Amino acid sequence: MTFADMEFSGASHRGACKSRNALEVLLEQLDRNFIFRDRSDLARLVNWSAGKDAPFHRWFRYREAFSPELIPQLNLGKRILDPFCGCGSTLIGAMQTNRSAVGIDLNPLASFVSKVKVTGLSDDELASIHGFLSQLSEAGPSEPDKISLPDLSIAAKVFEPTVVQTLMKLRAQIAAAPVSQNARNFLLLGWLGILETVGSYFKEGNGIKYRKMQRRPGRYVEREPGVWQNARFGSDQAGYVLGCYERHVRLMLTDAKLWVSMDGQSEVFNGNALDLIHLADGMFDGVIFSPPYANRFDYFESMKVELWFGGFVNSYDELKRLRKESLRSHLGADMSRDKTSFEELEGLLSTMDRTASSWRMGVPELLRGYFSDIIEVLKQCRKKLANGACHVVVGNSAFAGTIIPSDVLTAIAGKKAGFTHAEIWITRHLTVAPQQRSRLEGLERYMRESIVVLSP
Ligand SMILES: C[S@@+](CC[C@H](N)C(=O)[O-])C[C@H]1O[C@@H](n2cnc3c(N)ncnc32)[C@H](O)[C@@H]1O
Repeated sequence: MTFADMEFSGASHRGACKSRNALEVLLEQLDRNFIFRDRSDLARLVNWSAGKDAPFHRWFRYREAFSPELIPQLNLGKRILDPFCGCGSTLIGAMQTNRSAVGIDLNPLASFVSKVKVTGLSDDELASIHGFLSQLSEAGPSEPDKISLPDLSIAAKVFEPTVVQTLMKLRAQIAAAPVSQNARNFLLLGWLGILETVGSYFKEGNGIKYRKMQRRPGRYVEREPGVWQNARFGSDQAGYVLGCYERHVRLMLTDAKLWVSMDGQSEVFNGNALDLIHLADGMFDGVIFSPPYANRFDYFESMKVELWFGGFVNSYDELKRLRKESLRSHLGADMSRDKTSFEELEGLLSTMDRTASSWRMGVPELLRGYFSDIIEVLKQCRKKLANGACHVVVGNSAFAGTIIPSDVLTAIAGKKAGFTHAEIWITRHLTVAPQQRSRLEGLERYMRESIVVLSP
C-alpha cells in the first residue's frame, strides 16, 4: 500500500489517519526505508554554541551555523561545495584542513561575513588596521542632528541615542579610513560583529527582542528605564561602544595571524542555491550544507538590524525581494514557484490538525514549496559532484500535531534528485514545542537533528 492509498482510500480511513496512531504508522514506515546511524559524537558540532569561541567563527554571531570542526569529521574530499554557506563555517573548516571550498549564500550579510573571513590580509593591511585602532579614542559620538539612520522602521529603537551616535560616527570613520578595500571590509565586519552586543535588542527565536523587556513566567515586563542601560553599558556609553569595537577587532587580528598557516582556498558568491549554473559540473568531491530548517523562521527578520545598518538592504522592496527568493522555509518566501509532487509528504500533511493556526496560515503549502526547493537544490548538487557524497544537516519540525521528519524526507528528495544511496546519521534529539507536546506524546524520538548522507 502506498502512502497515498493509506490517506485517500475513503472518508472513514481519512478520519482514522488524522489520529496520532496513523501518524505513528506513517513515521515508522518512512523510517523503515533507511539505514540510521547514531552519530551523537557529532552533536556538538552541528550547532553554533560549540564553536562560538573558535577563531574566525567568533567574528560574527550566527546562531544557525555549524562548527568548522565538522568538516574534517566527514569524508568530503579535497574540493567542497556549500550552497548555503551562512557565515562560512565550511569555508573556514576547509581552509584549516588544506582543502578548497566554494560557498554561496543568498543573504548579502552572510556572504559578506564569509568573504571577509576567507580573504587573507597582507602584513601592510594588518598594520593599517592596527593604525586605525590606535586613533580610535578620538572618535566621540556624532552630533545628533548629523546622523542619518537607515529606513528600517525600528531603527531609532534598537540602540540608545548615544550608542547609535557613536556607532554611526565610527561607521563614517571606517568608510573614510586610508586603508585598502579588504582592510575596510575587515573593519566593517568588526563593526557589524558588535551591533548586537551594544544594541538594545538581541536575536531570539524568529526575530529580535528588546533588552528593556524582562521575561517572567508567561509574560514580559518592562524594566525600569535607565537602570538596565546603566547595568549593561555603564555611565559612558560612547566609551562602551568604542571599547567593545576595539576589543573585537583586536580579537579578529589575533585570529588573522592564523591565515598564513591555512593552506586551503575558499571562494564565496552571493547567490541562490537553486541556481548553480555558474559553477562547472563535476567540479567537487563533496557537498555539505545546512539549509534553513522547515520551521518558518525567516533569517531576514532576525538579521534585519545588521542588514539595514550595514547597508546590505536599503529599502523594504529590496528586503522583500530577498525574502521571496529564499528557500521556502518561511511564509515570506515566494509560494507561487513550481512545486514537485511528493507523495510521502502528502501522507504526513493529511494527518495535520486543520483547526491549528499553522494549518490556516498555509504551512502545508510552505512545506510543499520547501521540499520542492530541496529536491531542486539536490539536483544541482548532484550535477556539481564528480564523485563523493552530499551531506545535509537538517532538523525535524512539528506543526499542527504532526511531525515533519525532514531528515527522511530529504533522503527521499535525494533519491528523486538522482542520488542512489541515502543514510541518516542521528546527531541529537530536539524538543517538541510546548503547544505540540500532548498530541505528540510518545513520538518525541522522531524529533531529530541529523546529517543525511546521499551518495551517487
Ligand atoms: C542554516 S543557515 C547555514 C549556516 C551555515 N551552515 C553556517 O555554518 O554558517 C542557512 C543559510 O541559507 C541561506 N539561504 C536561504 N535561502 C537560500 C537560497 N535560496 N540560496 C542560498 N542561500 C540561501 C540563509 O541566508 C542562511 O545563511
